[in-house]
Amino acid sequence: MENNQALSLPKDLLDLDQLSRAQIKAVLETAEAFKEVSEREIKKVPTLRGKLVVLFFHENSTRTRLSFEVAAKRLSADTMAISSSGSSMSKGETLLDTAKNIMAMNPDGLVIRHGASGTPAFLGERLPIPVLNAGDGSHAHPTQALLDLLTITQRKGQVEGLNVAIIGDIAHSRVARSNMLGLRIMGANVRVAGPPSMLAARLAEEYGVSVHTRPEPALEGADVVIMLRIQLERQRGSLFPGAREYARVYGLNEERLGLLAPDGIVLHPGPVNQGVEMTPEVYSSPRSLILDQVTNGVAVRMALLYLLVGKKDDPMGLAV
Ligand code: CP
Repeated sequence: MENNQALSLPKDLLDLDQLSRAQIKAVLETAEAFKEVSEREIKKVPTLRGKLVVLFFHENSTRTRLSFEVAAKRLSADTMAISSSGSSMSKGETLLDTAKNIMAMNPDGLVIRHGASGTPAFLGERLPIPVLNAGDGSHAHPTQALLDLLTITQRKGQVEGLNVAIIGDIAHSRVARSNMLGLRIMGANVRVAGPPSMLAARLAEEYGVSVHTRPEPALEGADVVIMLRIQLERQRGSLFPGAREYARVYGLNEERLGLLAPDGIVLHPGPVNQGVEMTPEVYSSPRSLILDQVTNGVAVRMALLYLLVGKKDDPMGLAV
């Protein structure tokens, strides 16, 4: 751990541009320490005993929701899950009124996923407890970017100086945005590639990345490639001729995998459409770390819950 100043995180985690390189390193080092808890026979520490964490998922999720729940439980926190379909939001109650009613139960932290960009910031300004962004619209997915940074660091030793390609639907991807921020803060060279219809304007100026309309220049010699899912739910109209055509031009197959550096690795935030973003052979290859990312997601979310919801100055309570 660098020092206490590095551990002093903002009240809410909204995106990675809130954090310095030292703070990101501190989160990753804390996650490494918590990773070991998940490898024990008794996968539980008392770090957040007596704390209540609300898991508010207004949009579908498998990995993020489950790993926040597992993370909270492994830290001995109580959890309370709410989704829009099973709650009184389906009867017209507003998000803010719902949040105020949740607050009346005295929780200690709120994890939120929402289809509207800016919702975690909106709640963070109004609620006295830490708000953790679990993905908001096409804006940000900071915990995904942190678990990606942890996965890269474990395999490569560091992020600084690496060539990282991000391929796919950049314009609609909150994963791409948070990863571009996090990777640049940590000193990686980032190249993005996708169909022109899926590349947002001013990417080079705003994020300091190189932009390509074909995957090959981005993949050439890359140490890491992050393949993205096509965000059909956020696209207005069809942005490419079809899945087969997309796979032919942009999909990661064995031939394109051969363009990476010899020890280049493959990441994907999931869910993966095998046969579209990548072939089943690439998905299952030893260079694919997609399930390591899921494992690291639990450790990163344990670290963030500890740092934001727990008492930062307290020992980590790693003993059972
Ligand atoms: N990576 C990710 O956010 O996956 P989920 O949508 O399943 O949470």
